[in-house]
Amino acid sequence: MSSPDLVVFHARITPCSEPDTRMGAQKELHTIEDGALVVSAGKVERIGQTEAVLAETTLGPQTELLDAEGRALVPGFCDPHTHALYYGRRIPEMSLRQQGKGYLEILNAGGGIQETVRATAAASDATVVQATRERIAAAAALGTTTVEVKSGYGLTAERESRLLRLLEQVRRHAPVTILRTFLGLHAWPQDVADRGAHLEAMNELLAEVAKRNWAEMVDVFCERGVFTPEETRSHLEAGLRSGLQVRLHADELAPSGGAELAAALGTRSADHLLAATDEGLRAMGDAGVVAVNLPGTAFFLHEKPLSAARQRQAGVMAALATDHNPGSCPTFSMPMILSLAVHTAGFTPEEALLGATRNASRALGLEEERGQLAPGFAADFALLDDPDFRVLMYSFGMNPVYAAFAGGRRIARQGRPTEEVQAWIDS
Ligand code: NIG
Ligand code: FE
Repeated sequence: MSSPDLVVFHARITPCSEPDTRMGAQKELHTIEDGALVVSAGKVERIGQTEAVLAETTLGPQTELLDAEGRALVPGFCDPHTHALYYGRRIPEMSLRQQGKGYLEILNAGGGIQETVRATAAASDATVVQATRERIAAAAALGTTTVEVKSGYGLTAERESRLLRLLEQVRRHAPVTILRTFLGLHAWPQDVADRGAHLEAMNELLAEVAKRNWAEMVDVFCERGVFTPEETRSHLEAGLRSGLQVRLHADELAPSGGAELAAALGTRSADHLLAATDEGLRAMGDAGVVAVNLPGTAFFLHEKPLSAARQRQAGVMAALATDHNPGSCPTFSMPMILSLAVHTAGFTPEEALLGATRNASRALGLEEERGQLAPGFAADFALLDDPDFRVLMYSFGMNPVYAAFAGGRRIARQGRPTEEVQAWIDS
């Protein structure tokens, strides 16, 4: 047998391998006090106590040894909901909202998402690709090893196709795992005359997206005043027919039957849910639909987050994501999102960690390969700058990630992306 590529030892490992990841199911998470992790060909080969693991492992001349000096080691974060593919910031919009203008009011007046659509259309391909890679590198330095990226700042078939092609460029030689979601139905394009014809065109594009393997998933902004549950259902059903996985932005600002629709369709996830009903959450729990919590968006829009207590009651699996986008949540920081989940939504640190690893991977259909540290799973992990993983929720607004590895390769060192990751941005 060939010798391993990497052995990390003297780490306080929380593998997140508990079988039941519903909210409230785990009071504590199993921790290996003086743990070691053996990595071969990008995967976890062995995990256990340092002394036992070292006794069982034959090191070779190429094996890298890393003494973690007692630091906490957790699975790398999976960020299962971002809109990271765009150009341009929207700082003045933040002040408009401070002055009392609503998120949808700004959108319907041609600002918000429409402004980013214009800025993205005006930017060169290289500019959009580089800006997106920079965001992903920043996330990697904060411990993110898997990230979902949506299209959605094109809105017409032509511009959405361009974005999906650019996403292919972003993904080339990427240091982290990138999953793609087609979000053509993110808002109505300006001056659309015939809504029916537009929906039909987007359903056709969906079939093309599946055929060309431009995305794994399809999503819709199902919201009062944007796309109705009926329009959402028709598009997602077209996605299912094309073999894509489906999910939706549900009940973000007003209850619109999104959670119920997700349960009825058996989607991978329903995301946002600030205004979801208890019945909707329960139906999601029964159907195994992951509730993707976006507490950063609630924070930034001055809304109440979805409470952990209601999700425990509903027995759902809760995931955490940044929702990174230029309008409602400009952060890429999963540690900040973990802090917000604990301090504003009432998650326990254990629920938050499972939400950012296991349940987040499940929301993307990756639960058999990522999100926990066990033999055969991807060697995606973060070393923290404290023995206690709760430093993630304690050092809010800072970066407690000391080092991060994706597929066994180092992507971040002392809170900064490695040189290899920097080189990828410019390549
Ligand atoms: O998830 N709600 C729709 N989409 C994003 C915001 C996009 C934007 O404002 O640019 C969200 O919050
Ligand atoms: Fe979103």
